[in-house]
Amino acid sequence: MISINTNRFNLRTLCEKDNNDIFQFTKDPEISKYLNWESHKDIHDTNDYLTRIILLTKKFPISNLGIEVIDKNRKTIIGTVGLLPKHISSPYTYELGFVLSKEWWGKGIAIQSVQCLMKYAFENYTLERIEAFCVTENLKSWALLEKIGMLREGTRRNFFYKDKSFYDLYMYSILKNEWKEPSH
Ligand SMILES: CC(C)(COP(=O)(O)OP(=O)(O)OC[C@H]1O[C@@H](n2cnc3c(N)ncnc32)[C@H](O)[C@@H]1OP(=O)(O)O)[C@@H](O)C(=O)NCCC(=O)NCCS
Repeated sequence: MISINTNRFNLRTLCEKDNNDIFQFTKDPEISKYLNWESHKDIHDTNDYLTRIILLTKKFPISNLGIEVIDKNRKTIIGTVGLLPKHISSPYTYELGFVLSKEWWGKGIAIQSVQCLMKYAFENYTLERIEAFCVTENLKSWALLEKIGMLREGTRRNFFYKDKSFYDLYMYSILKNEWKEPSH
């Protein structure tokens, strides 16, 4: 069970009881617009999704952590952030993913969550490289990646397919020796 506390939120391992909080943002088509899953139609979709995440987390503990805040006097999961090891041939490379409820965009919570997780990962795991991929039209996502100092390595043309359309993907990475801990 992971729990990383900051002044604004707690990053923690997810459990089945988080399903309602998670459904509040996974049902939003704008959230999954550029992601490789469809928006959830009902709570059963979220339960299935959570079951898969919880199973994966048992093997890879930082692959999906909940971003928990106090909202209206209640602890609420408002997004997720994770680092998943890539391939057996590349065991020191982890892929970054993040999702935040729209209601919480524009407050710097996503960037702070990513920075917090990266610090935890570089300090607690043998990890050389973190990489991230995002659809070129997903400006908010690649703006975040650039703000944390990730380098755009190139473009995978027509790599991502969704809703009968092909999208280009930007590839980003940061190496352990390039990582600088933020001051907040
Ligand atoms: C990608 C995503 C997480 C970005 O959310 P976000 O809130 O814009 O991200 P940040 O935490 O970096 O916040 C940046 C914004 O907060 C503002 N901000 C306010 N306080 C801030 C603070 N203390 N620190 C940093 N930024 C702050 C910034 O000015 C910026 O505003 P702007 O968007 O008007 O320029 C969100 O759009 C999302 O969940 N999208 C759907 C899922 C997705 O596409 N994930 C990426 C897959 S690759």
